[in-house]
Amino acid sequence: MNTTLTLTVNGQTRHVDVAPDTALLYVLRNDLALNGPKFGCGLGECGACTVIVDGVATRSCVMPVSAAAGHAVTTLEGLGDAAQPHPVQQAFIDEQAAQCGYCINGMVMTAKALLDRNPNPTEAEIRQELAYNLCRCGTHVEILNAVRRAVVLLRDARSTPGKVSS
Ligand code: FES
Repeated sequence: MNTTLTLTVNGQTRHVDVAPDTALLYVLRNDLALNGPKFGCGLGECGACTVIVDGVATRSCVMPVSAAAGHAVTTLEGLGDAAQPHPVQQAFIDEQAAQCGYCINGMVMTAKALLDRNPNPTEAEIRQELAYNLCRCGTHVEILNAVRRAVVLLRDARSTPGKVSS
């Protein structure tokens, strides 16, 4: 049975009329037209659907939408756009880290959550954080380069007030 839930997504209050056990991913994509998060496995194993919930990289395919109510949800759309990419997105562009691009939402969101809580991670910490985000094209070298570049871009942005929006 549907119920009306209030979500906070990318800083905006959104009301949705859905079954409470619907996966957050479906609500984001189908009800809110936020198609950054992707459906990969639907089992919490690939990372394509990753969003950030209260600062934590979260697999939206296995999170009931009711569990997201009252929490701050950030999707890829909440970072930046083509005209004004977030430094993490810019780093992935600079390093040409996408091949098919399907995993990139998860890579970017997972990297952002990591760098928000740990702005200067070690190589081992970066690898550990991304270890459960799958890329079938094999662009792992470029993805790791992108995260290392993001560390530098974010450091530069922090020293330029107003440059990092989220
Ligand atoms: Fe959510 Fe694979 S689609 S982890």
